[in-house]
Amino acid sequence: MVEVSTSILTMDEKDISKTIMNLEIAKTDYFHIDVMDGKFVTKNTYAKMLNYSSYIKRISNLPLDVHLMVEDVQSAVDDFLSLEPNIITFHFESFDNEDKEKNRKDILDMIRYIKDNNCKVGLAIKPNTNLEDIYEFLPYIHMCLIMTVEPGKGGQELITSTLKKIENLKTYIDKNDIDIDIEVDGGINLVTAKDVKKSGANILVSGTAVLMAKDYKVIIDELRK
Ligand code: DX5
Ligand code: ZN
Repeated sequence: MVEVSTSILTMDEKDISKTIMNLEIAKTDYFHIDVMDGKFVTKNTYAKMLNYSSYIKRISNLPLDVHLMVEDVQSAVDDFLSLEPNIITFHFESFDNEDKEKNRKDILDMIRYIKDNNCKVGLAIKPNTNLEDIYEFLPYIHMCLIMTVEPGKGGQELITSTLKKIENLKTYIDKNDIDIDIEVDGGINLVTAKDVKKSGANILVSGTAVLMAKDYKVIIDELRK
């Protein structure tokens, strides 16, 4: 079953409560929280996304799907754990020490830390990162987030070469009997949704395409079909 996680990155700051309420009425499956630290990516949405998340927690029961685009994963995980999200996803590329063995160990430790704090965990990779680099972590996580745009901002076009990557991931997890969700993120609209679902994605992140729609429910239902 396909789920939709609406990114609130480009939400109009004028009517936040109205937007959140309308997304809840439209039955988005998750709110996708794009946390950017101004270092891992240029934009800094850190304080804003902490704010939005605590507001959503107060007025809605819908789960938070937190996407960390940060260098300091540990502090961001600690900040967002306090909001009891459904899942926290961090980037494989956030662990970029020269010593590959250290990166491997740090990633496994972070996966365990998030799970030990009763939260699901996801691992995200940028468009240019090879799938093979994260195969070893797949048995320990709940979701793999395949970036279909360069992380950093909303409203970009889906990079079509990522479709093959989604297909390869789906083939790999099926072949190895690994039960994880495949989330895709960036440039997902009514046209590209068909391609990514065909490739094997089961959670679609969409920001611009949903937020610009007159009726959120129509577009969310369409994306799910
Ligand atoms: C980009 C974010 C995405 C983005 C999706 O770095 O991770 O979640 O906000 O927005 P659209 O759907 O506008 O590409
Ligand atoms: Zn995102």
